[in-house]
Amino acid sequence: MSTGVIGIGRALPEKILTNFDLEKMVDTNDEWIRTRTGIEERRIADDNTNTSDIGYEAAKKAIENANISAEDIDLILVATVTPDQPFPSVACMLQERLGAKKAAALDISAACAGFMYGMVTAKQFIDNNVYKYVLVVGVEKLSKITNWEDRNTAVLFGDGAGAAVLGKVTEGRGILSFELGADGTGGKHLYQDDFIQMNGREVFKFAVRQMGESSENVLEKAGLSKEDVDFLIPHQANIRIMEASRQRLNLPEEKLSKTVHKYGNTSAASIPISLVEEVEAGKIKDDDVIVLVGFGGGLTWGAIALRWGK
Ligand SMILES: CC(C)(COP(=O)(O)OP(=O)(O)OC[C@H]1O[C@@H](n2cnc3c(N)ncnc32)[C@H](O)[C@@H]1OP(=O)(O)O)[C@@H](O)C(=O)NCCC(=O)NCCS
Repeated sequence: MSTGVIGIGRALPEKILTNFDLEKMVDTNDEWIRTRTGIEERRIADDNTNTSDIGYEAAKKAIENANISAEDIDLILVATVTPDQPFPSVACMLQERLGAKKAAALDISAACAGFMYGMVTAKQFIDNNVYKYVLVVGVEKLSKITNWEDRNTAVLFGDGAGAAVLGKVTEGRGILSFELGADGTGGKHLYQDDFIQMNGREVFKFAVRQMGESSENVLEKAGLSKEDVDFLIPHQANIRIMEASRQRLNLPEEKLSKTVHKYGNTSAASIPISLVEEVEAGKIKDDDVIVLVGFGGGLTWGAIALRWGK
């Protein structure tokens, strides 16, 4: 047996903020946002909905989809940079609301690579037979740390959550290889003081280089070639960065997962949200090879080669 994904779920706030809405808020326009980022609209949570509320919805669906009960979960890992408050963690809040009585719980701070860090951490406990089921949630309410007067960042981000339950799957399926990394010297390019601050050009260069390298590295570690890849699910930050990753793996357009136009950059939530959408659309089937790859503030990055199926 190896470790893989046995259940998935996602949650998105209902309120849509379009590029045309943003035109009324800052000096920008739909054409600029679409051509530079690929984003057309994003979801924004209302004032009464916090990060834990969005995460709870996604987690509940993932547990149902895994066909287990919340009480079966051994560990909850929540990847987020927008927790409701510094403590208790969002993971502990979910533990209570889900009724996951025996689960240990902690948040992971690795920005947009957080879900990759969460999945790889979960794998260690399951591989070693310490835990049977680990719930990993990527969730953000980035709208609460977005400066809605700064056009450089206000157009990029959105709110949402994606979740996965990890457990044992058939040998040969599941997580085949992974890579995690960090470069604290680049922390100055993407950080939060009161709001998100970003040096877009530096982050762009880093992202294109790192996403390509990490994707190739996990394929090599898994003994796979680019031709073996059925689907690429990159962090959904900018269509130009995603396209560069697709081209680096020589993949046709239909093998690139794209949700950035609908949801913007939802940080730790973007990869699991996209995974759920592709699986629900029937585009990912059992035994397909998927490359998941993310990058973010820290700077951090992570990639996973995954063979789909239980
Ligand atoms: C932010 C980003 C879209 C900017 O695109 P770009 O092609 O690099 O654009 P530039 O930075 O060269 O800026 C071009 C011009 O557009 C302007 N501009 C920036 N935001 C704008 C907006 N929302 N609307 C209109 N104009 C805008 C800039 O002020 C700049 O004007 P100037 O040349 O007069 O100074 C791009 O750099 C990017 O995606 N970077 C990575 C960001 C990221 O992924 N962050 C999340 C990491 S998890």
